[in-house]
Amino acid sequence: MAGIAADNEVTVKNLLSALEGESNASAKYNTFAIKAEADGFRGAASLFRAAARAEQIHATNHARVILQLGGQVSIKLHEIEVGSTLDNLKAALAGEQYEIDPMYPEFIAEATAHNNTAAIRTFHGAMEAEKTHARLYAEAIALVESGAKDAWTNKPRNFYVCPVCGYTSETPDEHDRCPVCNAPWDKFEVIR
Ligand SMILES: [Fe+2]
Ligand SMILES: [Fe+2]
Repeated sequence: MAGIAADNEVTVKNLLSALEGESNASAKYNTFAIKAEADGFRGAASLFRAAARAEQIHATNHARVILQLGGQVSIKLHEIEVGSTLDNLKAALAGEQYEIDPMYPEFIAEATAHNNTAAIRTFHGAMEAEKTHARLYAEAIALVESGAKDAWTNKPRNFYVCPVCGYTSETPDEHDRCPVCNAPWDKFEVIR
């Protein structure tokens, strides 16, 4: 890869891998949202759409750093396996858990060893946002499994997504600023 300093080669490889993961997650969640709508889990569909938007923000952030480091951006999209909405929620949670540990911690450790602050920032923002997704997916799984008629997973609802780091909340006024990146909460995108 011409244009990449030798010191940054592994960091760029990790950024490309994260970019591919985030891009595929975004496409997958948008597809899972369509399936959730069809299954009548319209609140789960809202969550999939919000998380899809957050993953798109992560992909954009990673791509920006790849370009800054002299790399080329390329993304391979994979076939999407669609199951029941409960299966899709479980697959989404497993993907988030893999990113939270081990993927992003390994990438952060490598970028830290090379003192690459831009890479550390984009990996860290994504990892912290994935924790909010894991929490919300776990909650949605429990509600779908419970079969409760009044569960939030059944009705369309708002989620709030940080436009900078993808932090995702179900609460319109959880904080004044994003707890991960400090962006003003009133700049958050409302996804339904
Ligand atoms: Fe996520
Ligand atoms: Fe943020």
